Amino acid sequence: MIGVLVSGEGSNLQALLDAELPVVAVASNREGAGALGRAGGAGVPVGTFELNGFADREQRDATMANWLQEHGVRLVVCAGYMQLLTRTFLQRFPRRIVNVHPSLLPKFPGASAIDDALAAGVATTGVTVHLVDDGLDTGPVVRQEPVQVEPRETLVQRIHAVEHRLLPEVVGELCGR
Ligand code: GRF
Repeated sequence: MIGVLVSGEGSNLQALLDAELPVVAVASNREGAGALGRAGGAGVPVGTFELNGFADREQRDATMANWLQEHGVRLVVCAGYMQLLTRTFLQRFPRRIVNVHPSLLPKFPGASAIDDALAAGVATTGVTVHLVDDGLDTGPVVRQEPVQVEPRETLVQRIHAVEHRLLPEVVGELCGR
């Protein structure tokens, strides 16, 4: 049973839903995340856990972990979730949290990975699916796929296309499919 954490558009969430993976809950740190509409459209329960509703990140993460576990979540997928998870949250799902990131980690961690790869002038970047630890995009790599930077006009689309294939594949394997 999968819980998905989102902050934005939710195209990776959509890829998981389209692959008919058992997504049972979607949690967001932003009320207005487009991903929430996609979850609602698929009939998946949504929860919003904005930081300003809590005393601190630990409390927010503890509440979010409770909510996910109440929905039967065993595997957490960060799909465009743009916040670091606290140890409080990590300890609730040991080695059961994965993230998709648009670079070949450890190169270009952080929120602007595609722009950083372009600025660095590398010929190849890519996509990584990795286990989440308490660092910024630092956990053990599960799967990576390279993507050529050129033609750079289409790099963003090509990276997203790889994410949308790779993430459901890896998550399916982790679910024993
Ligand atoms: C993806 O590129 C993901 O790798 C990055 O943020 C983006 C999220 O897109 N962390 P979406 O919300 O899944 O459409």
